[in-house]
Amino acid sequence: MSERRPFLAGNWKMNLTVAEAEEYIASLLPRVSGAEGVDVAVCVPFTALAAMVDSTRGSRVQVYAQTMHEATHGAFTGEVSAPMLTELGVHGVVLGHSERRQVFGETDRALAEKLPAALAAGLQPILCVGETEEERERDETERKLRHQVWEGLQDLAPDQVARVAIAYEPIWAIGTGQVATPEQVQEAAAFVRALVGDKVPEAADTVRVLYGGSVKPDNAGELLALPDVDGALVGGASLDAGDFAAMVNAARRAPA
Ligand code: PGA
Repeated sequence: MSERRPFLAGNWKMNLTVAEAEEYIASLLPRVSGAEGVDVAVCVPFTALAAMVDSTRGSRVQVYAQTMHEATHGAFTGEVSAPMLTELGVHGVVLGHSERRQVFGETDRALAEKLPAALAAGLQPILCVGETEEERERDETERKLRHQVWEGLQDLAPDQVARVAIAYEPIWAIGTGQVATPEQVQEAAAFVRALVGDKVPEAADTVRVLYGGSVKPDNAGELLALPDVDGALVGGASLDAGDFAAMVNAARRAPA
């Protein structure tokens, strides 16, 4: 088994002004400075990116955007491109979050273009996938994950595939407090890993699979210890710097 570095990403969603973000990061940095071997990212609104890149410089915390457009430039009012993000010093980008898919109509086709665009610009992508409650009840979880993973990765060169982190986020667990069981998470994470392996066998062992959906300090340790889970994408609970730091430090202690 290869060494996969644990990865904790906090998704602020549409929260925190620049002033609030500065207060947050000042509180977070000293609490995670000892988290050796853990990759840490905050996924922040566009308006706070430049300030957070500045404030985290020299620390272990990386700064991610929450979405981007697939084109490098053009007539796409309101959108932001990958080169615009890298110019600011942003390290990565969340792609295909279920809120982007459901509320803003983001399609698998667009995601298939966003992934190579992000990598070409030097951004580390986190691709989000996951089933609705109805799909789980109808036993369609695997079909949905297969579709989303394969569509999302389809335009990548084989050597690019392992550079994508994939976040398994069952939609019914996002923001609901209803966390998936460790069995459900392990089963889906292993399935996502196998899907990557079907496409690029050597990537199966190195690709990082995260879990997201109501992760909190009191359940993070158990989820992060699952064999196919390499980290977490945390929404609501990441808005408390103390709670997020507790989860980062739990990732450090979870067995590899
Ligand atoms: P949650 O969100 O932790 O608030 O459930 C997770 C996410 O949307 O990435």
